[in-house]
Amino acid sequence: MAKARSNRSVLVLAGDGIGPEIMREAMRVMEFFDRRRIASFEVSEGLVGGSAYDADGVPLTDATLARAQAADAVLFGSVGGPRWETLPFELQPERGLLKLRKEMDLFANLRPAQVFEALAEASSLKRDLVAGLDLLIVRELTGGIYFGDPRGIETMPDGTRRGINTEVYTEAEIERVVRAAFELAQKRAKRLCEVDKANVMESGLLWREVANRVKADYADVELSFMYADNCAMQLVRAPKQFDVIVTSNLFGDLLSDCAAMLTGSLGMLPSASLGAADAQGRRKALYEPVHGSAPDIAGKDLANPLACVLSLAMMLRYSFDLRDEADLVEKAVRATLAAGARTADIARSGETRLSTRSMGDAVLAALERAL
Ligand code: IPM
Ligand code: MG
Repeated sequence: MAKARSNRSVLVLAGDGIGPEIMREAMRVMEFFDRRRIASFEVSEGLVGGSAYDADGVPLTDATLARAQAADAVLFGSVGGPRWETLPFELQPERGLLKLRKEMDLFANLRPAQVFEALAEASSLKRDLVAGLDLLIVRELTGGIYFGDPRGIETMPDGTRRGINTEVYTEAEIERVVRAAFELAQKRAKRLCEVDKANVMESGLLWREVANRVKADYADVELSFMYADNCAMQLVRAPKQFDVIVTSNLFGDLLSDCAAMLTGSLGMLPSASLGAADAQGRRKALYEPVHGSAPDIAGKDLANPLACVLSLAMMLRYSFDLRDEADLVEKAVRATLAAGARTADIARSGETRLSTRSMGDAVLAALERAL
């Protein structure tokens, strides 16, 4: 399993709220690989979000952004919290994350929703609807209404105000993310569903047109289309109909929260945000749990670290091609859950609730056993 290369640079940005607690557990997994001489990482840490604001007056400094650009991979925790909610918009913690995504050009956001057998009961849906579920949402991450111009709040001549955001996609922006989704579908069940509101929005029409055109290069993948509102409904009606979904930034944000809950908890879902491959086949990448900073439980050692640990597994797979090691981490998480380990978010009444640290201990013990 051991690979010779040891110059894997990872910038860890734990962020705010539960970010630092869950990140500590993910970092122990990297330490495990190091200790067992399986793979080593050059880990450095930086600030992002509210904690960066507190230290430097901005949610992401240029220096931290430069370090992120230079790293082989960024491992990200979560940002935000009530302490910073009254800050001007441009200084809010979330702007740090959005700036990282945009400046690093991480256009393809992979959000897998997999139901672990041991957790099928924790889903809000009936067991048979979700057991075995394995779908992947590919969310466009650097365009659309999140970044489109014009935007802002402006005062009209009559003194009333209006808020403006713009959904705008170029063909090139659509094409690159759709291609990424086709390629992922080829490695899975070969079904891709493009999701939009082409019945209302011209940008959606363009998404359909581009997806249809690109399809010619992926003859083995079946392409279908769905309106976003219907997709939200189908996700809770019959989620197993999906293999890969590709959609815009905003719809992907909404649908991935919905898909996450099918798996029992938002605390379980990892994600990878990838840029384009360079000539050497290397891509910029950032890995982060789909959940937020959960200020209500921050600092209490209650948060579920598994989404962060599974994000690390995605990093091993997508940035470092350490497939066996990624499998090992996922297997350890599966074994931990199968043995009954539960943090509060996935525990049913009467079940023992582990702390963040104890869940990390359980994963590490499972890793040791799996070697
Ligand atoms: C997500 C989050 C972010 C988003 C926030 C924190 C800016 O909800 O990653 O899904 O809207 O993209
Ligand atoms: Mg979201």
